[in-house]
Amino acid sequence: MIEIYAVKTKDGIKYNKLNDFISYLSIKKQKRISTYCNYRENNRVIIADLLVRLIICNKLKLKNKELDINTSPYGKPYLKNSESLHYNVSHSGEWVVCAFDSLPIGIDIELIRPIKQYEIVKRFFTSEEYKGLLNREEKDRLSYFYELWTLKESYVKAVGKGLSLKLNSFSINNSPEDYLKISGTDYEELYLKQYNIDSKYKLAVCASTLDFPKNVIIKELDDLFEGISQY
Ligand SMILES: CC(C)(COP(=O)(O)OP(=O)(O)OC[C@H]1O[C@@H](n2cnc3c(N)ncnc32)[C@H](O)[C@@H]1OP(=O)(O)O)[C@@H](O)C(=O)NCCC(=O)NCCS
Repeated sequence: MIEIYAVKTKDGIKYNKLNDFISYLSIKKQKRISTYCNYRENNRVIIADLLVRLIICNKLKLKNKELDINTSPYGKPYLKNSESLHYNVSHSGEWVVCAFDSLPIGIDIELIRPIKQYEIVKRFFTSEEYKGLLNREEKDRLSYFYELWTLKESYVKAVGKGLSLKLNSFSINNSPEDYLKISGTDYEELYLKQYNIDSKYKLAVCASTLDFPKNVIIKELDDLFEGISQY
């Protein structure tokens, strides 16, 4: 069964606690974080890593130090300790989300920000999708844009190829069921679903099965800190 988790970062990690929590991450990630100057982005990356670590430690009954997380040539993180536990993370604005399954999975969350000119996003869509976007009433267009965007990103993240897979090379299709499908690619056996955890955001998950949960599990930031310190 797919599991989806979300944490609201709120004020983030208190400055005097930052180093404590960074120490739970891999040396590689610690180095990466030290090169960022955006404090909020840093917080999201740290919280995402702590969330994933806590869930994996719980599931596999491993100590945090025992986790062996590697990245694919396209940058997708994966767990070397188990071939049957796949995950993916995403963060935007105040939210960090992650999804777990026994098969490859992708997740994407985006804060809805205004778009002045739709022309500049044309290249991300097939001509059908772009036409569909422009045909929406103006009041619904922004919401629809972010739906398509997160769906497409969750897909490229599930496949693991990131943006080396052209976003206008495949389309998102409606389905009579409670999920969406993809067409125009070699990876059509993947399913998509959207979740609403916050009206200011769009969230989409792309998975290899239809075993989607009804709800996202919301974790409290303090419980996350408390939890990881046990491992
Ligand atoms: C992987 C990618 C698709 C994720 O982008 P993003 O939306 O900026 O970031 P998200 O917060 O959703 O995801 C980041 C996480 O994806 C994961 N990730 C990185 N490369 C990945 C890959 N190839 N496949 C799957 N997941 C990947 C990492 O865990 C990363 O987390 P971290 O930064 O905490 O280590 C990235 O390549 C990218 O550049 N995206 C922007 C694309 C764009 O312009 N889209 C417009 C669409 S309309």
